Amino acid sequence: MDPASEIASLRERIRHHEHCYYVLDSPEITDAEYDRLLTALEALEAAHPDLITPESPTQRVGGTPAAGFETIAHLAPMLSLENAYSGDELREFDGRVRRGLELAADAPALAYVAELKIDGLSLALTYDNGRLVRGVTRGDGIRGEDVTSNVRVIKAIPLMLIEPLASARARPAGPIEIRGEAFLSRQAFDRVNREREDAGEPLFANPRNAAAGTMRTLDPKAVSRRGLSAFFYQMVVSPGVAALDPSHAGALERIASWGLPVEPHWERCDGVDALLAFCARWATARAALPFDTDGIVIKLDDLALRERLGATAKFPRWAIAYKFPAERATTRLKSIEVNVGRTGAVTPYAVLEPVLVSGSTIQMATLHNEQEIARRDIRPGDLVEIEKGGDVIPKVIGPVLDQRPKNLRRWIMPGECPSCGSALTKPQEEVVWRCENASCPARLRRSLEHFASRRAMNIEGLGESLTDQLISSGLVNDFSDLYRLTVDQIAALSTTSEKDGKSITRRVGEKVAAKRVAEIERSKTNEIWRLLHALGIRHIGEGSAQALARHFASIPRLREASAAELEQVRDVGPVVARAVRAFLDEPRNQALIDRLVAVGVRMVDATSSQGPPGPQPFAGMTFVITGTLPSLSREAATALITRLGGKVSGSVSRKTSYLVAGDEAGSKLQKAQELGIEIIDEQALRALAGDL
Ligand code: IVH
Repeated sequence: MDPASEIASLRERIRHHEHCYYVLDSPEITDAEYDRLLTALEALEAAHPDLITPESPTQRVGGTPAAGFETIAHLAPMLSLENAYSGDELREFDGRVRRGLELAADAPALAYVAELKIDGLSLALTYDNGRLVRGVTRGDGIRGEDVTSNVRVIKAIPLMLIEPLASARARPAGPIEIRGEAFLSRQAFDRVNREREDAGEPLFANPRNAAAGTMRTLDPKAVSRRGLSAFFYQMVVSPGVAALDPSHAGALERIASWGLPVEPHWERCDGVDALLAFCARWATARAALPFDTDGIVIKLDDLALRERLGATAKFPRWAIAYKFPAERATTRLKSIEVNVGRTGAVTPYAVLEPVLVSGSTIQMATLHNEQEIARRDIRPGDLVEIEKGGDVIPKVIGPVLDQRPKNLRRWIMPGECPSCGSALTKPQEEVVWRCENASCPARLRRSLEHFASRRAMNIEGLGESLTDQLISSGLVNDFSDLYRLTVDQIAALSTTSEKDGKSITRRVGEKVAAKRVAEIERSKTNEIWRLLHALGIRHIGEGSAQALARHFASIPRLREASAAELEQVRDVGPVVARAVRAFLDEPRNQALIDRLVAVGVRMVDATSSQGPPGPQPFAGMTFVITGTLPSLSREAATALITRLGGKVSGSVSRKTSYLVAGDEAGSKLQKAQELGIEIIDEQALRALAGDL
């Protein structure tokens, strides 16, 4: 066989096996056999580089990292969905649809398609002549970010559509947009969070955030490692071009026939009763799915009827999302323990008899504070009701009182810190008890984790286990000790990790230790906002640390600033100014900063050499901020946006990508609504920025 035919044949076999594995979920060969095919193709292509095409399966990984993401207009706006939370609301929806179509009261039930709602981020793919040319996120619905290089590494997404034999299924010649959802399976999500925990990075709260954060990563290799999946559910043709199918069900079948993954549990339902039965079934059956679903999307099946109904500025009138109620379960509350945070806040949490909720085993839940426990009269030994919504940490709702065992005692908040034994304190008007001992080992552990975290000093590899060892071995008593660690000292420590339910203890070793020391050393030259954030000053988050750093550009100068001077920094109010002053006035903190100076941590920003910029996911986007945001000052929000490559403008126009609106937003909000600009709140801004 000549090399070209051999390459073509290998590619076809590999594509077939990728489809079996990633789309159909039924592999025909082992992973090793697949790897052998891929290696053979790589070898042939290396010998004949002129035969390499972008659609070759070898071209998925290792694409050039994008320098920020460009924004691209969608073929038609990517709308969102209205939500329904009950059967009654679904009946109202059906009523609205029927009225909108001017159907007679006795007209037959309408046909809908019910699909699982995938909890991920929406994605629009463009195929031209059957080849994947582009992948774009939803963005503001009008324009999205070009994430083609990341989309190309998602193995479930074919780089080339399959051309089926049946001519009716022939793929279109011109460009076509296929929309769907990229997501992380529960397994992939758990793995990603385990790795983040090991690396001392903050955990993703849920698979949706993890998927969105991954898609915004600028390194396709890193995206590839995360293992995103995708399902597709919509075909969009250019305005004026006739749809290929008369029905949504037909479109789904066509999309699947092209080799794209379509979530297979969709059903055609006649009328609301059939829809309700579908929703009721999946409210429990979803627990067994390998991915998270937070509801059912209901769509009118007939595409011509959809056309007649049209859409509002935000939602199509022919579809609705039925949201499942957060799943609840009852289990025994074994005990109430307390956790000591880095600021000394001591918070109670529930230790539960393990119970399966929404597909995951729950053993712990938050209990908020002592007052809440008393108010709900939750006692250790109670049968309690727990709830798991979209987030990782479930909540305790309350006790099942009629099943309370006799003589259960009320829980009493411990008077002493479980870690260092200091007496806990609480001002009368507050609800949180605190350990005031700044060198409490539990506080130190949390402080160190925060100090090293990605949005503070960004020291990779200082995970929970290593931090524990550094503290319990006595090598680290404060932040400055980190900078005195030697390779030998770290190498001799042992860390523990969990694998398949077993814990494995291993010596760190020279190689890893050398990496850790190099990372710590590198952090000495961070910009000073990182240090300001890392110190753990009350009320100082990343945004305010940046505002202060920009104003003073020097920690020694900041140390001399009066509270009044601190308030000069735009949007630093009296509370923040007082907190900064209080921190800097405390002799122990002054000594700590002096020790950090002594070990060589940079205290002044070199204005001329800012170092290389970080990821720029907001490149090309313009934000307008209006109203008062709950926690970010105007300056902090601006700093966050500009640091990620975005622009902040004072007025809303068609070019605005997002309006960030807080309380008492005025005319800008109205203008944005008129122009159909996406309006987001602070939380959504943080989510977009990956600052969760
Ligand atoms: S249809 C105009 N179908 O949910 C119709 N959306 O809350 C657009 N989603 O933005 C969406 N699974 O990102 C549709 N089977 C499904 C879906 C789905 C998840 C997402 C999608 C949408 C969001 C709305």
